[in-house]
Amino acid sequence: MNVNAPVGVFDSGVGGLTVAREIMRQAPEESLVYFGDTARVPYGSKSRDTILRYVRQIVRFLETKEVKAIVIACNTASAYTLETIEKEVDVPVIGVIKPGAKTAAESTVNGRIGVIATEATISSGLYPKFIRSLNPKLKVFSKACPLFCPLVEEGLTHDFVTEEIARRYLADLQQKDIDTLILGCTHYPLLRSMLSRIMGVEVQLVNPAYETAIGLKHLLAENHLNAQKLDVDPVHEFYVSDGAEKFKIFANSILPYDIKTTHVINIE
Ligand code: SIN
Repeated sequence: MNVNAPVGVFDSGVGGLTVAREIMRQAPEESLVYFGDTARVPYGSKSRDTILRYVRQIVRFLETKEVKAIVIACNTASAYTLETIEKEVDVPVIGVIKPGAKTAAESTVNGRIGVIATEATISSGLYPKFIRSLNPKLKVFSKACPLFCPLVEEGLTHDFVTEEIARRYLADLQQKDIDTLILGCTHYPLLRSMLSRIMGVEVQLVNPAYETAIGLKHLLAENHLNAQKLDVDPVHEFYVSDGAEKFKIFANSILPYDIKTTHVINIE
């Protein structure tokens, strides 16, 4: 395997860019091939069978790009497909749920953790399962926030409508005395300042992206796949299933550098 081959990163849409951004910060020598399934977002309200079908198509595409590892930068896809995909591909695969659960379990002081995510991720029960496997005494309170993902995809991250919906979604969790809240969907870090304002500064928000990027570095090292530092900069490629221009504008507002081109591909 070529150690300077790219890492494949995918999400249902733009949210996984929060993970790509963190990988660019933590592993700046790695090249990335990013795919955002913008034509079929959101995944969070779809069945496991549908999500697995989508993910297999994306993984097949990433394999044509000869990626050396795959990051499932989507909580819903990680919850429903990581175990299956790991067995089906020849390259190492990492999802975002275990890293997020680990960070939260290590960060909480009062042992009370909230999780917000899509309906699919919440009903998978994986965040509470992984957190309790790390420390059975921890208490986990979950809340599905299905509208956040489409609102972020629409670019309404600082809109009063989004804030009103967020206040309703978070009302229950505000009563639970949590000191840690996992942003269990890759779109939610883009609402970070709003969520923090609502929950209060005493509640720390966990973005699984950071721990995932660190986990990727370890995974590459274990498999002797860390990129060699070259004189040339790493090359990042961006693909979507629809709306390339909108994606590019969004990406350029959150990534540490400007992307020039986004390609639309037919993933089916
Ligand atoms: C979605 O596509 O519904 C959200 C992606 C995620 O779960 O991170």
